[in-house]
Amino acid sequence: MRKYNFLLIVSLVISVVSFAQVSTDAKMNSFIDGLMKKMTMEEKLGQLNLPGSGDIVTGQASSSDIGKKIREGKVGGLFNIKGVEKIRAVQEIAVTQSRLKIPLIFGMDVIHGYQTVFPIPLGLSATWDMKLIEQSARIAAVEATADGICWNFSPMVDIARDPRWGRVSEGNGEDPYLGSQIARAMVRGYQGKDLALNNTMMACVKHYALYGAAEAGRDYNTTDMSRIRMFNEYLQPYKAAIDEGVGSVMTSFNEVDGIPATANKWLMTDLLRTQWGFKGFVVTDYTAINEMSNHGLGDLKTVSALALKAGVDMDMVGEGFLTTLAQSLKEGKISLKQIDAACRRILVAKYQLGLFEDPFRYCDINRSKTEIFSTAHRKTAREIAAQSFVLLKNQQNVLPLKKTGTVAVIGPLADNKSNMPGTWSVAADFTKATSVLTGLKEVAGSNVKFLYAKGSNLDADSMYEERATMFGKTLNRDSRPADVMLKEAVEVASQSDVILAVLGESAEMTGEASSRSEIGIPKLQQDLLKELLKTGKPVVLVLFTGRPLTLSWEDKNVPAILNVWFGGTETGYAVADVIFGDVNPSGKLPSTFPQNVGQVPLYYNHKNTGRPLPEGKWFQKFVSNYLDVSNDPLYPFGYGLSYSTFTYSDIKISNLSPKGNQQIKASVTVTNSGSFSGMEVVQLYIRDIVGTVTRPVKELKGFQKIALKPGESKTVSFDITPEDLKFYNNELKYAWEEGEFQIMIGGNSRDTKSVKINWAK
Ligand code: BGC
Repeated sequence: MRKYNFLLIVSLVISVVSFAQVSTDAKMNSFIDGLMKKMTMEEKLGQLNLPGSGDIVTGQASSSDIGKKIREGKVGGLFNIKGVEKIRAVQEIAVTQSRLKIPLIFGMDVIHGYQTVFPIPLGLSATWDMKLIEQSARIAAVEATADGICWNFSPMVDIARDPRWGRVSEGNGEDPYLGSQIARAMVRGYQGKDLALNNTMMACVKHYALYGAAEAGRDYNTTDMSRIRMFNEYLQPYKAAIDEGVGSVMTSFNEVDGIPATANKWLMTDLLRTQWGFKGFVVTDYTAINEMSNHGLGDLKTVSALALKAGVDMDMVGEGFLTTLAQSLKEGKISLKQIDAACRRILVAKYQLGLFEDPFRYCDINRSKTEIFSTAHRKTAREIAAQSFVLLKNQQNVLPLKKTGTVAVIGPLADNKSNMPGTWSVAADFTKATSVLTGLKEVAGSNVKFLYAKGSNLDADSMYEERATMFGKTLNRDSRPADVMLKEAVEVASQSDVILAVLGESAEMTGEASSRSEIGIPKLQQDLLKELLKTGKPVVLVLFTGRPLTLSWEDKNVPAILNVWFGGTETGYAVADVIFGDVNPSGKLPSTFPQNVGQVPLYYNHKNTGRPLPEGKWFQKFVSNYLDVSNDPLYPFGYGLSYSTFTYSDIKISNLSPKGNQQIKASVTVTNSGSFSGMEVVQLYIRDIVGTVTRPVKELKGFQKIALKPGESKTVSFDITPEDLKFYNNELKYAWEEGEFQIMIGGNSRDTKSVKINWAK
């Protein structure tokens, strides 16, 4: 009886909730129906138009070119316009001076924080901490919405296995499972539970699809892959964002199956909407429609019509929709229904954001004064940055340093603020970032004496340095000859007890249009490092990078390497926290670091081939390997050291021969066998040993980050069900197949304990 009552209440609650949803939807639909009835064709096309905002100076919105277009109803939204006053001014034009007073939507690339900048996404991923990642997105949304922005061109979830591609820095690395978890966490963080709140924003998952698979790692290059690889590997994180309810999707520049994504109906409609049930709107990437003429698909009118028909709703910057769709409609090349559908989706997004109710919802000047770059946000950013650092090597426990003695801090990135936030930090105020040198000084206290020398420029080639330090991220190129700088650095270093060599990439050596064909530390800096090592002092390489680098020489010769990516505005403090041991590093690589660039693409979840090299071997004739380098990575996916050490017990399995939909438990006991409290990311991998299609040698299927005191042990258990065994088969059906599986658990993808099970249907 009690159970009956409970069920009754549950079903009543469900019906009330769904009734409320239906009535909210009905209200919205009738509002939008009414509005659309009043709209002219030009006004409808205006909603599909997302022009660049140009350089609107505060106070000049009304007289600007954009102001005129907004008044004429030819603009649906603006992006990368910064500052709540400016945004309020243009919104005012839209809602007071345009005929139908439709509010604008304001977008921005808030990729890893707004003014409080968090680590670059690849660094965030190295935390393997979904709560922290969600929190970073939440703070980014709080700050951006306090400054007028309600739509975010993030998360970027493109799987990337080629570190030559500069945009690996903006994504979550090489793994579909980790990437999917992060995609979800970011969408939750940005969108919260209610998009209409004044501190939540609409997310935009990008770049749909396969942008990370550009041939040769050259940005914007051709992409081509089988459907089975797409579904099993590259598409998963986009789908995860859709499943989490992301409000919008951005197209990618590349082609998919020979058709640019932006005109690809299979991708934009059949898969995205019909199969995956996406209900939001699709925006192009920057001038992606226009660029389809270069791809060879026809003139602007033709490609604009193709994009609309494929399922694209909003045209970023190129104005192909605005200027050609009316003519295409007259010629019968597109239908009114297609234009209406796109227009409706944009209006729905604005409605969901609460813009019709209050177009100034995100323009609260008081919030912008108190909620941006707050002490609390910066504190979180510092903590997250420290969690993102990956200790790659620590011979004879050079690290952590004691807070005494003399420390030489050397290198072109040691005393620099503007590069700390990393690529895509459009809202950052670089002057507020903390350099490594400043952070070290403040954290260490007065018992440590710091000596500093720049030691070298970023690169010997000044033109290269110029290309790699754009957008105000200068390294203040030193005009002294290289040998003079080197000599000074060696002199300074000789007076120290320990040397911190702060080297690597500049912020803009990764990011958009920053592909590299060599992916080492620039030679000039390597030369500096060699000279520093010759002093005989212990050297710690504090490495800045936005991509996996080739570090074979450094790994062989430098006693300690701490990879700090680009940690955001609080980088300096976070580096100091880890260097002096206030925080024990726990980051794990979300991407494989190759030994050399010739091994690329190198990723842990590869296939076995018909002629695999036996594990631990190299070289064998007529098997899949190289003459000049082993198949091993330098640092495998999931790798990262700690100041402590963790030992793993053998795996315990609750049932070695499960059947059907049973659930089994795989457990290990992890012990902190060192002398520091620390955190460890325990990783579960599964190999499907026999399949109807070839299967990867291992796939990440779960992970848990645990904290352990010295001597402490914890048992970590993973529940495994057939859901974890599913994959897309040759008919692209998502299903599992019975047979043998290898269950692996460890602290990285290479060093695992393993056990075999047999799972029957
Ligand atoms: C990038 C996108 C970005 C857009 C708007 C494009 O060049 O590919 O990632 O969101 O610009 O700034």
